[in-house]
Amino acid sequence: MRFDILTLFPGMFEPVLGESILGRAVNQGLIEFHTHNIRDWGLGRHKQVDDYPYGGGAGMVFRPEAIFGAIEEGLGVQLGTAEEPAPPPDFPILLMSPQGQVFDQAMAQELAAYPRLALVCGHYEGLDERIVRYAVTREVSVGDFVLTGGELAAMVIVDAVARLVPEVLAEESPGEESHSRPLLEYPHYTRPANFRGWTVPDILVSGHHAKVAEWRFKESLRRTLQRRSDLLAKLEPQLDIKERKLLEQVREEEESQGHS
Ligand SMILES: C[S@@+](CC[C@H](N)C(=O)[O-])C[C@H]1O[C@@H](n2cnc3c(N)ncnc32)[C@H](O)[C@@H]1O
Repeated sequence: MRFDILTLFPGMFEPVLGESILGRAVNQGLIEFHTHNIRDWGLGRHKQVDDYPYGGGAGMVFRPEAIFGAIEEGLGVQLGTAEEPAPPPDFPILLMSPQGQVFDQAMAQELAAYPRLALVCGHYEGLDERIVRYAVTREVSVGDFVLTGGELAAMVIVDAVARLVPEVLAEESPGEESHSRPLLEYPHYTRPANFRGWTVPDILVSGHHAKVAEWRFKESLRRTLQRRSDLLAKLEPQLDIKERKLLEQVREEEESQGHS
């Protein structure tokens, strides 16, 4: 899968995307990153990319020319004009924005199905609205808070999407992780079995695979009930009869312990 990142700060990406699982996936040719410095398409000797807002007010605004140029020349996507609109691109061009749809695991899965994804990092007080309407295909937020720029948001999205690309995760199974269903993952334990008197649940060292799987599923349900009961409304219609019974058991156990 190919990721194109349009940013004023391409240097921020190499240290993050070149390390660990993503760095290995790049070396294996499973994913590729291309950063495009928006300033290369800036105006004049100073490569200006921002300007004062029409109508006055605080802060600067991203002018449209540089981002349109980076998308057209850097990505090879024609954006057209008001008179001659261009057809939509065949891959998503995401604008990082606190006003966008909030990113989640379902969106990560949807985006991972594309062979190519572009991410535009905003900066300043805002972007000229013609960028939002005519240059990108979708606005995406990483949460209800405001960052100084879109770079960290883009890294979050790239990381979450890239690890879903087949073979990027050598051993881990994305299918069991938190949010692959509307469910939080079960607790993990490793050696030693007894650490300072805190012991590992017996079932996990029993070697009984079916019982371990059931324990893990129940603990996933318990965590979700305790921490994110809002997810259960989405999960319940997806449960089969056996899973529903386990949820009932967990609810009863939690109620009897006064946890819910
Ligand atoms: C200081 S913010 C601008 C916020 C803007 N004035 C507003 O209120 O919507 C600058 C840039 O950071 C990025 N950004 C900030 N918060 C974000 C979030 N929650 N998710 C994604 N991108 C964000 C966007 O690219 C944005 O253009």
